[in-house]
Amino acid sequence: APNLLPPLRPSRFCPSGEDAVKDLPPRRPRPEPGEARCQKSVTSRNQEEPIRACMNYVGNRSLCSATEAKVNDRSEQPKAKISVTFVDKDGDETVINVPIGMSMLEAAHENDIELEGACEGSLACSTCHVIVTDVDYYNKLEDPEDEENDMLDLAFGLTETSRLGCQVIASPELDGIRLALPAATRNFAVDGHVPKPH
Ligand code: FES
Repeated sequence: APNLLPPLRPSRFCPSGEDAVKDLPPRRPRPEPGEARCQKSVTSRNQEEPIRACMNYVGNRSLCSATEAKVNDRSEQPKAKISVTFVDKDGDETVINVPIGMSMLEAAHENDIELEGACEGSLACSTCHVIVTDVDYYNKLEDPEDEENDMLDLAFGLTETSRLGCQVIASPELDGIRLALPAATRNFAVDGHVPKPH
């Protein structure tokens, strides 16, 4: 019998039209009236469209679940916040969570930690001076710019691991960093000087 089916055309399930059906199995005979078939075929005008619809549907579903699995797997993603400990001049510690990308000066202010920051981070003062208590963490920081070094030279109680709090930006590798406020330097043997007997 001659094939009287209308030509294939793009549909909302298969925007590319003919190309998408090249690999389909040969046409199946038209179902008898009342025969169970794909639900999507109910509103279709020819036999091929529902098949394309089904295959695309299944294809998209598997793509979706794969993407979903990737999105749900958050174990690989870096933490959104890091833990930072501020040590005040009395040696009291305050542990705060700092969002990635936030400066230590902002974080201190948000958590009522006494770090002044007179110029609000524009590298025009040294009142946000902090001391990184662990040299390993200090070495993870970006090198200070000249402007920061110039300001640090004016800071009270400068140490080898001094930085300006407004220039230290939270990043995943700084998780666990400890920052001492400068007045506490009196309590730290920061210069390694050990008095020798005469
Ligand atoms: Fe002034 Fe950091 S707040 S240099």
